[in-house]
Amino acid sequence: MAQKTWRIGVAGLGTVGAGLLTFLAERPDFAPAGGRATVTGVSARSRSRPRPFDISNLPWFDDPVALANSPETDVFVELIGGSDGPAKAAVEAALRAGKPVVTANKALIAEHGADLAALAEAKGAPLLFEAAVMGGTPAVKMLREAMVGDDVKSVAGILNGTCNYILTEMEATGRSFAEVLGEAQRLGYAEADPTMDVGGFDAAHKISILAALAFGCAPNYAAAEIEGIEGVDLLDIQLARDLGYRIKLVASADRSPDGVLVRVHPSLAPLAHPLAQAGGALNALFIEGTRIGRIFIQGPGAGSGPTAAAVAADIADVMTGAVRPVFQKPATDLKPFTPVDPSKSLGRAYLRLSVKDEPGVIAAVTETLGDAGVSIESFLQKPVEKADGVPIVLTTHAVAESVLKAAIERIAALPAVLDRPRLLRIARI
Ligand code: HSE
Repeated sequence: MAQKTWRIGVAGLGTVGAGLLTFLAERPDFAPAGGRATVTGVSARSRSRPRPFDISNLPWFDDPVALANSPETDVFVELIGGSDGPAKAAVEAALRAGKPVVTANKALIAEHGADLAALAEAKGAPLLFEAAVMGGTPAVKMLREAMVGDDVKSVAGILNGTCNYILTEMEATGRSFAEVLGEAQRLGYAEADPTMDVGGFDAAHKISILAALAFGCAPNYAAAEIEGIEGVDLLDIQLARDLGYRIKLVASADRSPDGVLVRVHPSLAPLAHPLAQAGGALNALFIEGTRIGRIFIQGPGAGSGPTAAAVAADIADVMTGAVRPVFQKPATDLKPFTPVDPSKSLGRAYLRLSVKDEPGVIAAVTETLGDAGVSIESFLQKPVEKADGVPIVLTTHAVAESVLKAAIERIAALPAVLDRPRLLRIARI
């Protein structure tokens, strides 16, 4: 029987696009169901930009919407990026035409996933986005397919390789955030505008998508609580280590009877914990199911080959004809989750204070915390030669965020406390 040839239109020819074109040129018959996948049209911002592969023989489209609508495009692959603009317009055009869409665009899915799912399902067109979260590491399929027999309670992990690289380098080399970021930009590891990564927004997009898949809700990016790593001080990395922890940018989504809490924070993980052990640009994720228990995956969250492999796996699903809702329920039944008020959430905390080195200061701090209802778990004062005060650092037992914040205000007002206390969460992992 003649095998079908699937004509693939690829919009966006950056790192991932390069990986995909290279792979499909070498292995057009990679899909387990048989058939061939051949690129029959490309689109990008610049046609003439130097690229590591030849596109001169491929039909060129200035407008990705035209590529999506082309009669020569059976499957539209969107690798442009950005939550709106040309990426969204082209994905919508392809879905409106009833064409399968494969995308690596986490911002698009996190911010418009419910509407796009409704359009895709109304048109009977698959909308697949394995590459949007953890690059080549299969987190999306794990939640969308393998975990449907369980009730997921929580997902938590390291979802941004740039932040993980920066934090790892700061600890390994004793350099500041700004120094390591500058070097990462010079080497091309970090974007010229690193805000999406270091501000925690990229991780928040990804955890919003995972929360939707885990809990059968529409993505609710607006409800995510987001803190990036710009304020992580080398001193905190060193003090956390003295206490037996490593600072990681942890993205988490937890379900409780009150709703879902989605957060991204620089957080302390015990040194021996697998999340603390995931160094460099690695991504890592825990999934906790009611019946399956805990699953841990780790792997590359970016890069040409790995991310293109995830895109190719989605193309293979299209070729197989697998049909399932975009999230865990038909789009007509999808609702955004109810966000939990973060001030009510319970957690352990790390607090660093800069205090005057004089009698009675520690007593004043501990008494203030005690009065506010915060129980101290450990306490460390390092003799540091600093004209502007000495650091003391403490960890707390589990405490409601609202109680902790009120206690911090009271500590900040003590005459012996010189700077605003630094709060970091201890990861609930
Ligand atoms: N910028 C992302 C990261 C990779 O640093 O992890 C693509 O999602």
